[in-house]
Amino acid sequence: MKRTHTCGELRTSDIGTEACLQGWVRFSRDHGGVAFIDLADRYGITQVVFDPEDLSKDADAEALAETMRSFTRESAVSIRGTVRSRVEGTEDERNPTGDVEVLITSAELLGKSDVPPLEVGDQKEGVLPSEDIRMKYRYLDLRRTDMIRTLETRSRFMHFARQYLETQRFLEIETPILGRSTPEGARDYLVPSRVHPGTFYALAQSPQLFKQMLMVGGMDRYYQIARCFRDEDSRKDRQPEFTQLDMEMSFVDEKDIQDVIEGMLAHVWKGLYGKKLETPFRRISYKEAMWSYGSDKPDLRFGLRLNDVTDIAGKADYEIFRRIISKGGIILGIRIEAALAEKIGRNEVDRYIEHAKKVGLGGLTWMRARDGTLDSNIVKYFSPEVIGNLIGKLDIKDGDLLFLFAGPEKATQEGAGQVRLKLAEDLGLIPEGVFEFAWLVDCPLFETDPVSGRLTTFHHPFVKPRSSLDDDNVMGSSFDLVLNGSELGSGSVRINDPEMQRKAFSMLGMSADKIEKDFGFFLEALRYGAPPHGGIALGIDRLIAMITGKETIRDTIAFPKNKRAQSLFDDSPAKVDDDKLEELQILSLAMDDLDDL
Ligand code: AMO
Repeated sequence: MKRTHTCGELRTSDIGTEACLQGWVRFSRDHGGVAFIDLADRYGITQVVFDPEDLSKDADAEALAETMRSFTRESAVSIRGTVRSRVEGTEDERNPTGDVEVLITSAELLGKSDVPPLEVGDQKEGVLPSEDIRMKYRYLDLRRTDMIRTLETRSRFMHFARQYLETQRFLEIETPILGRSTPEGARDYLVPSRVHPGTFYALAQSPQLFKQMLMVGGMDRYYQIARCFRDEDSRKDRQPEFTQLDMEMSFVDEKDIQDVIEGMLAHVWKGLYGKKLETPFRRISYKEAMWSYGSDKPDLRFGLRLNDVTDIAGKADYEIFRRIISKGGIILGIRIEAALAEKIGRNEVDRYIEHAKKVGLGGLTWMRARDGTLDSNIVKYFSPEVIGNLIGKLDIKDGDLLFLFAGPEKATQEGAGQVRLKLAEDLGLIPEGVFEFAWLVDCPLFETDPVSGRLTTFHHPFVKPRSSLDDDNVMGSSFDLVLNGSELGSGSVRINDPEMQRKAFSMLGMSADKIEKDFGFFLEALRYGAPPHGGIALGIDRLIAMITGKETIRDTIAFPKNKRAQSLFDDSPAKVDDDKLEELQILSLAMDDLDDL
């Protein structure tokens, strides 16, 4: 039997024709000897019917009945029969094939299924099996419509992205996965070399250095759908191995790179949704993002902006504020308008105070506007002038609620940003189906690690500074693509001068020896006519999760690792046999090290 149609294809126009369908037995119902089966595949579901009464005389009804009995749930089967209309009143309007059914004349079991350990049929929200079960039996989980649609979207996304990049003269080039371990940010996954015992490759954290060397190599415009490997703790938007749409271009500035991404996403949008994506995307400086939204990946789908009221509230006779200000801290305010503030009673305010503590703030101070003034348990410390200025600056009206957050600059911005997100969620302010893309621009080149006090990079060490590396607070030429509160990608113009690159490494605390050892090959490449260049990498798993409305990127990857970085379908990581370790000389090298001690 050869398939003539998919399970999503038959319509009333096919009535009277012969069809052969192959797919999986999703549900079957026996109505007094007549069997109704929902036959499913990637494309849809078609009802097929086995009715012994309806078989022609010469058909071997008993043999066919025997085959039908072997059709257990989720078995792969093949059926042939005549397309007919469903009995009036039994049509299924929600299903495109719902007006027809196939009356079976012959059938074959192709692959029998044991009793499936998870329900494949469409579940209502919240009744999915546990994630570990879904992971262990991923091949069954993948049969669910939701997984099929997500992987289809992912595939189509990449198709349209490739289509666009080809028109823009980009070359798709693969770069090594086995490379050198370089201090680039995350921890490496190491791979021992059998040929050179005691030495290791690292799995690529990203193609960064290779794509820059491709530019030195004159490739001009490169892209790759690159697998990247980082030994980081898994989170809902982080996987040990993930996919980047990685790009690099020569002779470009920041805007050229952003233009390519906007053009590409607009093309993808048109292809996927038949809709126009508004470009150019809004630009928001790192500084504004932190002061107004308390995040370097601001969710711009709703208001509730933070306001700097340090100068005003700092004048209150309130000891806590005074102390914070004297240590260089800040005070931020969020105004919640009356219609929403109504929903936040005293108990809810207490819950927000608890939440504020959970996200690292000392707490929060609140006030309610009544009769043209502000009212709260601490209002006695606030002079009429301070109150008047607060009301003026935040345009506060009667009924509004004001939250104030005080503390060290960055922690307070970020904490207030978290409370802002919680407020939006609780108050239902986040619209569905809205995509607020933005470029985070004007980023600093360096940051100081709050714990060690050491200079680190805001993005990575290859970002070109906008002015001299020696300038205080030097800005970088880097930027992030942000969507609905998530960082989808980051890019920059790169340093193409080897001496400047060496200096950047050394400012980050690397010794001359270490620079030579880890990056000597790269610095050398920059010495042979490295063109000005820049690029970007988009996190594809995150992007697909955002556009398909998934909570975690695990739901956008066919075979992801679980929260503990395990792969449950093949039970890895796993121990390996000693002879494999011996071949790699890992055991003996470890022994030698012990002897040396
Ligand atoms: P960066 O490290 O910012 O930049 O990575 C770019 C994008 O990749 C995604 N991403 C991840 N997705 C899932 N799991 C992870 N563990 C993970 N880590 C990162 C994010 C992120 O924005 N070479 C530079 C890019 C460049 O400058 O061209 C780089 O890798 O969406």
